[in-house]
Amino acid sequence: MYKVKIFGAGSIGNHLANACRRKGWQVSICDIDKAALERTRSDIYPARYGKWDNEIRLATPGEIENEEFDLVIIGTPPDSHMAIACSELERRPSRVLLIEKPVCTPSLEDANKLVNLQKETGTFVAVGYNHTLTAHSQRAAEIISHGLLGKTQTISAAFREYWGGIFGAHPWLSGPEDSYLGFSQRGGGAGGEHSHATNIWQHFAWLTGSGRINRVMALLDMVDDGKVSYDQLFLVNVQTDKGLVGSIIQDVVTEPPVKAARIQGDQGFMEWTVNIDSGHDALRYAGSDGKICEELFPKTRPDDFAGEIAHVEEILSGASPEDSPIAVIRGLDTMLVVSAAYLSHKHGRLVKINYDAGYSRDALEFE
Ligand SMILES: NC(=O)c1ccc[n+]([C@@H]2O[C@H](COP(=O)([O-])OP(=O)(O)OC[C@H]3O[C@@H](n4cnc5c(N)ncnc54)[C@H](O)[C@@H]3O)[C@@H](O)[C@H]2O)c1
Repeated sequence: MYKVKIFGAGSIGNHLANACRRKGWQVSICDIDKAALERTRSDIYPARYGKWDNEIRLATPGEIENEEFDLVIIGTPPDSHMAIACSELERRPSRVLLIEKPVCTPSLEDANKLVNLQKETGTFVAVGYNHTLTAHSQRAAEIISHGLLGKTQTISAAFREYWGGIFGAHPWLSGPEDSYLGFSQRGGGAGGEHSHATNIWQHFAWLTGSGRINRVMALLDMVDDGKVSYDQLFLVNVQTDKGLVGSIIQDVVTEPPVKAARIQGDQGFMEWTVNIDSGHDALRYAGSDGKICEELFPKTRPDDFAGEIAHVEEILSGASPEDSPIAVIRGLDTMLVVSAAYLSHKHGRLVKINYDAGYSRDALEFE
């Protein structure tokens, strides 16, 4: 049985606590806000999963800071991720450290430090892009590996979801101005909040051998009224170092939501959809014979995290984390693109990513 510490008794902290408890693991959730701990016990967890689980320990971070854990999960606001992650790796490294998305703010501050600490400690550091590990994503990877689609012509990805649901799930927040969500530079806005789209684009580019994004041209729709400063629409055209051109859309205004990606090959295509209806993810694809196949994957909200936690379990039991879709460098690649998009929009220019410069703003240059 693994010992798990979760920072943040908020929305994701509860989801991942439940996913770990389904594995029978010993879970402690810590939060700097005692009201958040109480809300978890009396409201969020029982409302989502039927009843409170007395096996879950609730604590302040200081109360459990000297204990050892196999898995540490950071489910706090994005602008706190790096400080907590580096401090955990410096003080008492766990075997796996899972940081929620987005891994950091667009400033990429301390990103290189985190990568160095991962190397020094040997901890497997991951970023919570859970959609790469759902059942339909694993099936998509299998189909792609059989070469059904041929040579990739383009990839597009979109995570478009009005964020009213987030505020519905956080009734103690009156709106985006009350949290990081209303501030792109703190990891909120469509760029940070729905960065799943950028990440799944990169995931499919990686699975199809299409290279790494190194050119970014963005147009955003900013909301800037003195109280908030965030992008509500994040429209980005990208190109990889192998010449593949595609598009990414993220927004916080579309209702009902659209969460989908499409790979067009010269032999066939694949459409990948999250929540095609309230109970399924879906794949729709065809190869060179043109015969369209549709597969539905039954799911509930807890299933969104089950694949990710099963993957973490494999790594805790000794599997090689090589090529993990949630490895920290994949999450940092995503933030490089998000950061490049903000820079591109601000200056109306195409931004190049130079991966040799490491994970910092120094990697971004105007073309
Ligand atoms: N992968 C997903 O699908 C998914 C879903 C929801 C949220 N998230 C991500 O999870 C992160 C948190 O989002 P949320 O909606 O759960 O936020 P939230 O506001 O519901 O909860 C965050 C909690 O962290 C606590 N906190 C802040 N600093 C802390 C610290 N230093 N130590 C301990 N606790 C601290 C806050 O008090 C708060 O209770 C964000 O990065 C978000 O993007 C990911």
